[in-house]
Amino acid sequence: MALNAGLACHGLRFGWPGEQGDDRILLQAVTAWFQPGRVSLVTGATGAGKSTLLHLLGGLLRPVAGEVRAEDQPVSRWPARHRDPWRRRVGMVFQHLALVPDLSVAENLLLPLVPRGMKWSAMQAAITRQLEAVELGQLAAKPVYTLSGGQRQRLAIARALVGAPRFVLADEPTAFQDDRQAARICAQMGAVARTGVVVVIGSHDPRLRNASEVDDRWHLAAGRLTAVGPPQAAP
Ligand SMILES: Nc1ncnc2c1ncn2[C@@H]1O[C@H](COP(=O)(O)OP(=O)(O)O)[C@@H](O)[C@H]1O
Ligand SMILES: [Mg+2]
Repeated sequence: MALNAGLACHGLRFGWPGEQGDDRILLQAVTAWFQPGRVSLVTGATGAGKSTLLHLLGGLLRPVAGEVRAEDQPVSRWPARHRDPWRRRVGMVFQHLALVPDLSVAENLLLPLVPRGMKWSAMQAAITRQLEAVELGQLAAKPVYTLSGGQRQRLAIARALVGAPRFVLADEPTAFQDDRQAARICAQMGAVARTGVVVVIGSHDPRLRNASEVDDRWHLAAGRLTAVGPPQAAP
């Protein structure tokens, strides 16, 4: 594997402001690498910092120390005007979904595509394809507020994937899914990774922990991320 491919973090340190104005350090010195073509799973108890780590990896938060590198570029150090184009290459599935409830299912997928200046027909084709992939094709015109929790979460997955991102960061993507859909989402993440995409999933769902599609496993506890199972070759 090329040295500079994929997503990596080095000595990542992050804290949320505590009640006394002091920073409560959540991530101590997190070093990890996430390779294209592979599904990486980050497990950890609730509150371990999985969501925070994904937000750092996707450039939504800045580390206090250390850095995030994407294809060997120090993306976490970039000023906002450089970071925005980088973020467009990242597909994020938020734990709290962050959909626009008053817009239709299809319109929610249109939003991330509009800034890309794609042709209307190309946008339509991408939207239709993603909705079919998450079994929401029949609901394209429905307002999001009429969807079930599971359907909304699948829409959030479709929105993350619709712009053909090179990096997919999925936070608890199976939380609201039944076993059949959870298995389908695992297969989908595996298929996306096989096209050369970096896929990082944060989850404590045992169905994901045991999924055959997961290639690399990391565990987050006490502010540290450790590789689980057979050692992964460092890039
Ligand atoms: N915006 C925030 N402001 C302050 N504290 C936060 C914020 N987001 C998360 N935290 C705290 O950081 C810790 C880790 O949260 P999170 O990253 O969501 O963990 P996980 O996803 O593993 O459950 C929790 O103690 C949480 O309360
Ligand atoms: Mg979380």
